Amino acid sequence: MTAPAGSTGPHAANDPRLLGRAIRRIAYDEATIARRVHALGEEITVAYPDGDLLVLGLLKGSFVFLADLVRQVRRPLHVDFLVASSYGDATVSSGQVRMVYDPETKLEGKHILLVEDIVDSGRTLQRLVALLGERKPRSLEICALLHKHIATELHHPVRFVGFDAPNEFLVGYGLDHAENFRHVPYVASLQ
Ligand code: IMP
Ligand code: MG
Repeated sequence: MTAPAGSTGPHAANDPRLLGRAIRRIAYDEATIARRVHALGEEITVAYPDGDLLVLGLLKGSFVFLADLVRQVRRPLHVDFLVASSYGDATVSSGQVRMVYDPETKLEGKHILLVEDIVDSGRTLQRLVALLGERKPRSLEICALLHKHIATELHHPVRFVGFDAPNEFLVGYGLDHAENFRHVPYVASLQ
């Protein structure tokens, strides 16, 4: 029996989702991600006291992670999204952070859990935490699937972290390069 393409390291070489692009290695495979997301869901479940919990996903990168994560949280919650500007086609930060879509939901008095795919420079989150903090949430925490631990611009702790990531350009499980590879079910490092 052959394993499905892309599910584990050796098969990624033939994965048709990768546009023929060579990847350096699979950083986190599907099973590893699923186990960690399950544990994160449990951490979040026990961390929150009573009160409204709003899980705010930062689009587009968090969409896969958020969908899996909220199904592992065993308490009532609401979901909304916001959009900030991204890197465009570059693999390095351009320094531009713009709010493109602002959540409709009222934040005041609620526990806000901001869900992000990856913390790199921390610039995006630093800006968003400042903006959202002005709306008087009861609490404001960050959950990131990946954290490169090179953020010099973020002065707010990342309370929930999936994985301490290598300082490489990672794609898959929501993360893109020029909008490609978001649907790849594992996280890979580009060459
Ligand atoms: P920061 O503002 O530098 O922390 O960058 C945050 C955003 O940049 C993330 O939400 C991603 O969309 C993007 N990004 C940073 N590093 C990577 C990467 O390794 N792969 C894909 N996207 C990345
Ligand atoms: Mg991106």
